[in-house]
Amino acid sequence: MIVIEKALPEHVNGIAEVCSNGYRHTYEETHSKEYIERVIRDFYNEERILKEVKHSSREWNGWFVALDGDNVVGAIGGGMIGSEEGEVFVLYLDPSRKRERIGSKLLNELTKDQLRRGAREQWVSVSKGNSKGIPFYEAVGFTVQSEQESYQNLEQEAYKSLRYRRYL
Ligand SMILES: CC(C)(COP(=O)(O)OP(=O)(O)OC[C@H]1O[C@@H](n2cnc3c(N)ncnc32)[C@H](O)[C@@H]1OP(=O)(O)O)[C@@H](O)C(=O)NCCC(=O)NCCS
Repeated sequence: MIVIEKALPEHVNGIAEVCSNGYRHTYEETHSKEYIERVIRDFYNEERILKEVKHSSREWNGWFVALDGDNVVGAIGGGMIGSEEGEVFVLYLDPSRKRERIGSKLLNELTKDQLRRGAREQWVSVSKGNSKGIPFYEAVGFTVQSEQESYQNLEQEAYKSLRYRRYL
C-alpha cells in the first residue's frame, strides 16, 4: 500500500535517490549528460534536501513522499508563488513505479496543502519535449500558458520550458 506523508529527515536519502534516478530517466533523450548531472548535483544532494525537509514555509511547503513500506518511491515539493497561486516545483517517481496513481496521490497531497494556504490556481514548469511529464499534467487539468528559457541554462544552452496552469 502506498502512503503519502510529509517528509522527515529519515527520508532524505530516498528523496535524493528517487529524484536523481527519475531526473536521469526523464531527460536522457533530450538533455546533455552535463546538464543532467549538474542539476542533480545542485538540487538533489542530501545536504540541500535535508535543509528543505527541516524548513517549510509559505514559499516552500516542504517535501511530501510516497512510501511503500519504508521505501521512498516518489517525492513532490512545491510552494506558493502569489497570494492565490501555488506551484509544483518538483515531482519524481521511481521510474519502475509509474502509472500506479502515485503521481496523482502526491499531487493531491501538495494541492490540499496549497488550498489551505489560499491557492486558487496551480502552476508547473515542464521542459519542452518532456513526454514523460506532460501527458500527466494535461490529464489532471493543466493547460500550457507560455514558453520560456529553462532557468538552469548556462549561457551556451537553449533548453526551453513550458509554463502550465490549472484552476483549483
Ligand atoms: C509525471 C509522473 C510523476 C506521473 O506519475 P504517475 O504515478 O505515473 O501518474 P498517474 O498514474 O497518477 O497518472 C494519472 C493519469 O495521468 C495520465 N498519464 C500519466 N502518465 C502518462 C503517460 N506517460 N502517457 C499518457 N498519459 C499519462 C493518465 O491519464 C493517467 O491515468 P490512467 O493511468 O488512469 O490512464 C511520472 O510519470 C514521472 O515521474 N514522470 C517522469 C518525471 C517527470 O516528468 N516529472 C515532472 C517534471 S516537472
